[in-house]
Amino acid sequence: MRKLFSLLLASAALFPSSAAISQRDSIFIYSPDFRQGLHAAVRTSDGWKHLGQLCSSDYGTWGAEKRMYHPSLCRANDGSWRLVFQVNDRAPLFAAAYSADLVNWRPQDYPRVATGNCLEPVVHPAGDGFDIVYTSGGAHYRVKATPDFRHFTAGERISDSELQGIVGATKTEDRKNIDGKECTGQTFLLTAEETARIRQFFDERAEDGRKSSERMHDDKKNLASLPKTVGATLTVDMSRQKPISDKLIGIFFEDISYAADGGLYAELVQNRDFEYTEKDHGGWNATTAWHSSKPIEIATEHPLHPNNPHYALLWPDTIWNEGWDGIVVEAGKKYDFSMYVLAGGQKQDFSIQLVGHDGTLLAKSKLKTRAGDWQQYSTVLTATASDNKARLVIVPLKAAHVGIDMVSLFPQETFMNRKNGLRRDLAQVIADLHPKFVRFPGGCMSHGNGIDNIYHWQATVGELWERQPDFNIWHYHQTRGLGFYEYFQFCEDIGAEPLPVLSAGVPCQNSSRGGHGQQGGIPWEVGRYTYNGKPLTMASYLQELLDLIEWANGDAATSKLAALRAKAGHPKPFNLKYLGIGNEDLLGDVFNERFDYLNEGVKKAHPEITVVGTVGPFWEGSDYEYGWQHAAEKNLSIVDEHYYNPVGWYLHNQDFYDKYKREGTKVYLGEWASKGNLLENALAEALHINGLERNGDVVCMSSYAPLLAKEGHTQWNPDMIYFNNTEVKPTPNYYVQMMAGQNAGDEYVYAESKFTAKGRETADAALRVSHSVTLDKETGDLIIKLVNALPQSTVMPLTINGGGAWTRATVTTLTGHSVTNREVAAPVTEEMSTVPASVVLPPYSYRVLRLKR
Ligand code: AHR
Repeated sequence: MRKLFSLLLASAALFPSSAAISQRDSIFIYSPDFRQGLHAAVRTSDGWKHLGQLCSSDYGTWGAEKRMYHPSLCRANDGSWRLVFQVNDRAPLFAAAYSADLVNWRPQDYPRVATGNCLEPVVHPAGDGFDIVYTSGGAHYRVKATPDFRHFTAGERISDSELQGIVGATKTEDRKNIDGKECTGQTFLLTAEETARIRQFFDERAEDGRKSSERMHDDKKNLASLPKTVGATLTVDMSRQKPISDKLIGIFFEDISYAADGGLYAELVQNRDFEYTEKDHGGWNATTAWHSSKPIEIATEHPLHPNNPHYALLWPDTIWNEGWDGIVVEAGKKYDFSMYVLAGGQKQDFSIQLVGHDGTLLAKSKLKTRAGDWQQYSTVLTATASDNKARLVIVPLKAAHVGIDMVSLFPQETFMNRKNGLRRDLAQVIADLHPKFVRFPGGCMSHGNGIDNIYHWQATVGELWERQPDFNIWHYHQTRGLGFYEYFQFCEDIGAEPLPVLSAGVPCQNSSRGGHGQQGGIPWEVGRYTYNGKPLTMASYLQELLDLIEWANGDAATSKLAALRAKAGHPKPFNLKYLGIGNEDLLGDVFNERFDYLNEGVKKAHPEITVVGTVGPFWEGSDYEYGWQHAAEKNLSIVDEHYYNPVGWYLHNQDFYDKYKREGTKVYLGEWASKGNLLENALAEALHINGLERNGDVVCMSSYAPLLAKEGHTQWNPDMIYFNNTEVKPTPNYYVQMMAGQNAGDEYVYAESKFTAKGRETADAALRVSHSVTLDKETGDLIIKLVNALPQSTVMPLTINGGGAWTRATVTTLTGHSVTNREVAAPVTEEMSTVPASVVLPPYSYRVLRLKR
């Protein structure tokens, strides 16, 4: 087959668009190795030179997959390109990609055409469309593809003689020496215009790379020519205003890095349900976090609920739980203990204790249980001393054999003292951001690791013992104690709109599970997937989304689902307005047809709900381009953009949204951050927020990501808030979000700034000093956000034309000694009895002025 591949490679080169080509340049397309995707080289007077990467594999998980083996490219009669490649040696599919110009590629598709594996696919034009031949199990097969490269027939076996026919008029594969290295690939002839376009693409990419690598810690060198003080003026024109979103700053809560269990969710017992498994985390099992002098016996014969099948069988041996890196116990505080006991014919009494790391008894209470079926028992423990690494000890007092499950310990002091509540300090630091919305329960965590790990919201509501735990894509366990009811309640408690985001019927494209078939979706027909004992199909999945809306918003008197919400403690509707469908997915056909189905289904049944779509994980590229195209075609209200870019990118892309169309689909910047927790990162983010406000007519929401990370369990860096069991550690990035969130306006006011260095206007300063002026219509306050990302201070006389008089001001400032500081002091707020005539911006600072009437 390798030979066939070689021969067809050469034959593909016979199909350039001859009509279109006037003057021809050779371009060599090759893959330097299977990890690096498709590259281009051009001939120069010094021989063949590498130009850059055209595209890479998007198949499978990062690390182990994303491989491109045996790429085969051909050209259609209209000059556009078709690419196929092998993804690994197991999957019954190949990768298929389309490009009009070799540099912009459609999101890849992975047609399942084989029963076994699918090796060395080769594409060539045939009739109106294309033929793809591949090898599987020693035999050869042919697949027919439509001209748009969207539909593929199943592999049809071809004989050796047919194969020879295809191979017929071909020559050998092409080899070139690229920058001194022998490479195998294909040579094509392009017009001079086409080559120029490709060169321009690589030049622009190189320039973007150079700009993105700029960092403030290189300022001494890069900004050497700027004088010690930069002069600036800010002139606000109150007569020019435009309405902007009143929900610009929100939060994205994802259960990553122990953000939920062991984090925001205040439960102090780890593995309370004895449901930990190897699937959650290598080496975990039902007894993880539990200890006893003898092996702990786990039973499943008579579970509390089928969703919660494991429980511990206690002989008269003491068992204890280690908590989440220990249990924090504070003298004088009260703790609610509860557990379910299956006593059969035997009564049992327990001594429930909190014991310090050195064996000191911190709290103790007796729990008497009766003989009988599963029943919940509870008691309150009052601590007489403190310990940050205590444990929960359960001492059986009689010689009886009983089952225990759902063993729980909560501090009575939770956020707003809610039962089954949230850790007070963490919830408060989030509330202090004044987020206008909360996106939950996660990104990758929500669409899941494989189809059977897609998040089902209804598994997370109802009685705790009935909820369905699952493994978390971030390699731990979700108890679902923090479920949809609790998320909605938290939103209400902090005055934020709930924005649940659920899968578009496809799991994470980087899933390592789910069998063959990148991003295989929930099937349309009854098939191999079930959920809750019933077939899982796209129709049943759509019903889940509709049920969520009814559960959240329905009338408890007439709707069974809404009655469940009322029973849980919230008779009034939650007033859900937004629903996210999909999370930065690969926007191939599998996604698109499922997204459209769900979007249309939701819109038809609930036109009052705004569906938020998704445009991939980056600020450019296939998913972004095609996602926006799709959004325009389907007239979507809002799409969710994600990008994690370096400081330099933010410095040079402050006008990113200035170029967006003002009409049509709006932007939710659902995940973004600059890559670090230094003051320079926070300032780059402050510059970007000014850009978001200026474009608040197009960008309707934004949320930094990720929000929380527990020290010792951090799976992603940077994060906005780090914490451990006793401390909450906001970052400079947090303070920027907080200052912006607490000072949100809903009317943008046009203003102009001018910068001078040594009496002359300077562009360097314009890139580093930025303003955004907004009006908060409710209070009438005028809010001026100023960023100085320069090493020198800036003095900025302030002129406000029109709008009446403001008489006093609050000025909040975030700064640090050095731009590479991670530890910065919290912002300081000063009250001023007059409005300052000019503002001094300290070096590397973010300053928010709030002018009051
Ligand atoms: O924010 C962390 C992860 O980043 C999210 O889960 C995912 O959507 C993105 O890739």
